[in-house]
Amino acid sequence: MTSLPATAPRPATGMEGPPSEQVRVDGRWADLERLRNGHPMMDAVIDEVDGRRIRVGDHWLSDFASCNYLGFDLHPQIIEAVAPALAKWGTHPSWSRLLGNPRPYVEIEERLTELLGAPDTLVLPTISLIHTSVIPLLVGRGAVLVDAQAHKTIYDGAAIARGAGATLHRVRPNDPDHLVQLLRHFPAGVMKLVCLDGVNSMTGNTPDLNQFAQICRDNGALLYVDDAHGFGLIGEAPGTGAPWGRRGNGTVRFYDESYQNLIMVAGFSKAYSSLAAFLALPTALKNYLKVAAPPYLYSGPSPMASLATVIAGLDVNDAEGDEIRSSLQDKTKRVLGQISRLGLRTLNTSGLPVIELPLGHADDIDAVGRFLFERGIYVTLAPYPLVPRAQVGFRIQVTAANDDEQVEHLNQVLAELAERFEMQRAVGPV
Ligand SMILES: Cc1ncc(COP(=O)(O)O)c(C=O)c1O
Repeated sequence: MTSLPATAPRPATGMEGPPSEQVRVDGRWADLERLRNGHPMMDAVIDEVDGRRIRVGDHWLSDFASCNYLGFDLHPQIIEAVAPALAKWGTHPSWSRLLGNPRPYVEIEERLTELLGAPDTLVLPTISLIHTSVIPLLVGRGAVLVDAQAHKTIYDGAAIARGAGATLHRVRPNDPDHLVQLLRHFPAGVMKLVCLDGVNSMTGNTPDLNQFAQICRDNGALLYVDDAHGFGLIGEAPGTGAPWGRRGNGTVRFYDESYQNLIMVAGFSKAYSSLAAFLALPTALKNYLKVAAPPYLYSGPSPMASLATVIAGLDVNDAEGDEIRSSLQDKTKRVLGQISRLGLRTLNTSGLPVIELPLGHADDIDAVGRFLFERGIYVTLAPYPLVPRAQVGFRIQVTAANDDEQVEHLNQVLAELAERFEMQRAVGPV
């Protein structure tokens, strides 16, 4: 191992100057640090779970901050799949995937490819690792165009791509006309990668994927869709009559879109309650990523327990997934119905279980969060700078494991909240 000569400049750590114990968090992170440091719903330690109830200290709360949409984290068949897998394979393979792939990877990729109706699939540990490694490889020194509301981890990938010579362009949120305008500006031959969310993690809505895919094809661009929240929730729809479609095979299938000129990225860490992620992609690209994408070559892989719960999750999805989604849909409807009756504004127009409620005054975030906590409701706070000041609020996620009593309790507390705090109001008749 080589050590730095004494005269070498210190690597930029962002911590030059004061020793670490004196680091002050200020600037745009100060609001968030204040909440983190003193708010019961931030950086909390969860002492115990009981179904979808959690205990923080001596306080039991209904958990509406979980992204375990299908309740697979608590499903007995999925939990029981872990011990036999560990007995057979040990806890963790430890080889990077290029060095050695325990057979469950093969089964997961084959089953996923069939479920998605994709040309091929590649499993890597997380979506964040996929974005930061694959976006730069796909775009090279071309142009990466990112929807302004796309997930932060897409921006991280795009920023790395920019560091390697790409140009980075922000597309107005969900604005196809702006995308066309930007795409026309590039000379032929420039690689163009357009990145957006499938189901958006804050609004809970989807873009019109057919329109975006067509624009990309017409303008020689590759579309890259992060479907972290769509996979498991929505799926193939034509002719099913089911509002969320069937099989939970993602936003691309929901729109009956093809994978031509389209890469879909999603993961198991939301609806499937497991730690692994994947790309749906052509086989030639998969083989390229096997030698070029660092997470395939170097990263520690997903633990065996995660691979086991993915496989069991695919089984449960086959057997009961549509029934579970239907029950989740009913619960979500009841929450959205109450929000509508109370005249509150939500960004959610899709009916999916990702429901952000913006506050009337961003500065109320602390008090609103404490009120919800005291009333036994746990949600995801969305403070500045995680969202723009005008969208500061909280996000409710409904999961199949929230029972009817919890949904009633949430609706009651929302009514009390609307009496006590100024919330943004829905425009138009309610
Ligand atoms: C839209 C979206 N993309 C990516 C991620 C990160 O996923 P992972 O934990 O697999 O890195 C999240 C997680 O919150 C997300 O919501």
